[in-house]
Amino acid sequence: MRIAVAGGTGVVGSALVSQLEAAGHEPVVLARATGVDLMTGEGLEQRLDGVEVVVDVASTATSSKKKATHFFTTTTANLLQAEQAAGVRHHVLLSIVGIDDVPFGYYVGKVAQEQAVVAGSVPWTILRAPQFHEFARQLLERTSVGPVAIVPRMVSAPMAAAEVANALAGLAVAQPQGRVRDLRGPEVLGMHDLVKRLSRTVGPRRLILVANLLGATGRGMSGGALVARDPATVGTQTFDEWLALQ
Ligand SMILES: NC(=O)c1ccc[n+]([C@@H]2O[C@H](COP(=O)([O-])OP(=O)(O)OC[C@H]3O[C@@H](n4cnc5c(N)ncnc54)[C@H](OP(=O)(O)O)[C@@H]3O)[C@@H](O)[C@H]2O)c1
Repeated sequence: MRIAVAGGTGVVGSALVSQLEAAGHEPVVLARATGVDLMTGEGLEQRLDGVEVVVDVASTATSSKKKATHFFTTTTANLLQAEQAAGVRHHVLLSIVGIDDVPFGYYVGKVAQEQAVVAGSVPWTILRAPQFHEFARQLLERTSVGPVAIVPRMVSAPMAAAEVANALAGLAVAQPQGRVRDLRGPEVLGMHDLVKRLSRTVGPRRLILVANLLGATGRGMSGGALVARDPATVGTQTFDEWLALQ
């Protein structure tokens, strides 16, 4: 099956593309690196030729509510419009556990993106995943200023991106299902501690300072709102197992 992966060069996107290839499908990567700009729609029409399913795992690194909302609503509108014109029959979106309870700017953008998919005219499936194990590396990179990184106190049940990709691959070849069961990693952990462990063992070495975010965002992030409640589908690879492979 020809399956387009919006954001197919990213952390979870590249894992998904590999898994789809290994399963004999024909993944089509939609990313600026392959000549598609989801913000303008440039290159989309040509790449969607013959595509049956689109999995959207595109992202932007921002904590600004305005920028995140602009990115996720614009890219989703462009995708859905092009999908409708190309006769795509299923739109699969990866979202994040707990985003309605934590008003962090990026999550506000993801909520708006989910709403656009639900209101859109392409039949859809939405999967909410927790932070990836790989998010420890993304956080370390994004919060480093010289030798110091300031990371938010954040309780999560993280999961390997490869396992999330596996769940997405299964959904992509199934019928549209609406909102499916949330994913949860095998352990509840402090993402800030995982950043420290990654920095100590794999690097780059940083002095990690942990910050309590203010207000409802801080309370939600540190209080467990990002951990999927039952019923959830639980992943298997622990953070330590993942770390040992880095
Ligand atoms: N990271 C996590 O822990 C986590 C957890 C749960 C859910 N999620 C969700 O999973 C999805 C993927 O996250 P990720 O961390 O894997 O992303 P990522 O590694 O940051 O990759 C982002 C992808 O989006 C593409 N992209 C960005 N701007 C684009 C544009 N204007 N046009 C076309 N492509 C564009 C990038 O490719 P180019 O740069 O080549 O354009 C890249 O392939 C997001 O929806 C995120 O909310 C992430």
